[in-house]
Amino acid sequence: MMQIETIVCYRICRQFMHHVVRRRIQHVRLGSSLKIAMNFMYHRRYSSKVTGIVLGIETSCDDTGCAIVDSNGKILGEALNSQQQIHLNHGGIIPPIARDLHKQHIEHVVHDALRIASIELSDVDAIATTVKPGLPLSLVVGMNYGKHLSRTSGKPLIPVHHMEAHALTIRMVQKVDFPFLVLLISGGHCLLAVVQAVDKFLLLGQSLDDAPGEAFDKAARRLKLRNLPEFRTLSGGRAIELAASKSTDPQAFEFPMVMAQYRDCNFSMAGIKNCVRRHILQQEKLHGVEGDELIPDVFNLCAGIQMAVTRHLCQRLQRGMEFVTLQNLLPRDNKTLVLSGGVACNTFIKRAMGLVCQHMGYSLAVPPPHLCTDNGIMIAWNGIERLCADIGITHDLDSVDIDSKCPLGEDWTDKVAKASIKCKWIKLTPLLKEHSTSQE
Ligand code: KG4
Ligand code: ZN
Repeated sequence: MMQIETIVCYRICRQFMHHVVRRRIQHVRLGSSLKIAMNFMYHRRYSSKVTGIVLGIETSCDDTGCAIVDSNGKILGEALNSQQQIHLNHGGIIPPIARDLHKQHIEHVVHDALRIASIELSDVDAIATTVKPGLPLSLVVGMNYGKHLSRTSGKPLIPVHHMEAHALTIRMVQKVDFPFLVLLISGGHCLLAVVQAVDKFLLLGQSLDDAPGEAFDKAARRLKLRNLPEFRTLSGGRAIELAASKSTDPQAFEFPMVMAQYRDCNFSMAGIKNCVRRHILQQEKLHGVEGDELIPDVFNLCAGIQMAVTRHLCQRLQRGMEFVTLQNLLPRDNKTLVLSGGVACNTFIKRAMGLVCQHMGYSLAVPPPHLCTDNGIMIAWNGIERLCADIGITHDLDSVDIDSKCPLGEDWTDKVAKASIKCKWIKLTPLLKEHSTSQE
């Protein structure tokens, strides 16, 4: 009996060493090598996963984030410096200011994450850093710092696609198998895609102009919501959500359907934005609103904006789901929609997506809010996914560069348009009923 166990142990260890070599996890010290081998044996038996630790860096927009995550999805350490308040004061993100703040904070953010994790850089297996897409000036800071860490530690670098990282974060907190459908809604993006593997995405639809978070941010600014103390420190999207929850008549402002004539899955916020501008001008004129004053019906207008954006997202998503069925892109009996990105923090939008999923036979999976907005954890986790799948791990630092406009996956948007699917829209009225009962 003992002998059999010894042989099994030996085989597992040999397999592990084979994986270490194959996965180019280099410079594993003798002590930690034994620890990882023990870990590995445990996981071979229970989850057949390769173990590892990745340090992830995020600087694609206005958050300087770093986290250290292991292959069990355990967050060993995390630090985040948000620039939100500074950009709110400027009325939007100013790229050179974002770059300077990243430069100012990156070193201590990384040190804080390592200190909280109680580990040294030599203990991690790889360094993952966002290199695409995002603000070029911001991306460069994270990429250069990642390269610096890789160079000084001898650990490999894993360049990460920010939107792929948003899409896969859910797998860190719950079991979601490939393939699945993902809707990514943030301040910079609006993307609908089928995720087939760690690095295989089929893009079904994307925004032709603004992203939903951007539309919310602009509307909140134009409505001067920051002049109300309760809203002062909130992102535009969170401010619109809070204002909408205070609405007494959420149907007071009706917005026309957006892109109803286009039978594809692309998104557009331009129509909603124009409508908002028209309503505000009309109301300001009607009530003689000037300077720092707000229009009297501001909460109802916010409810209208939130509903218009939500309805548009739901309709494009519904067509995407019909297309998925037509093309047999997901297993018939196991369909999951993952919702992520900063706008996925919005409770009203989550409830609407829940309704669509219920009608279409999908289960809905949404990461907790602090994992939906930008952070270093999602980058470290993407590094883990790539390490385990042996994809895109490099020591050739000169070959890594930023790509600020990098698209997501293979473009299937034309195929969706060609399918020209007509839909009978799922009604979102139950959401308004819920709103009125929560007001009572
Ligand atoms: O993913 P994220 O942190 O950064 C980007 O990659 O863009 O998303 C930030 C966006 C902002 O536009 C913000 O207004 C929006 O997410 N947001 C929300 C909410 N919380 C943040 N939008 C709607 N409802 C919220 N509760
Ligand atoms: Zn993001």
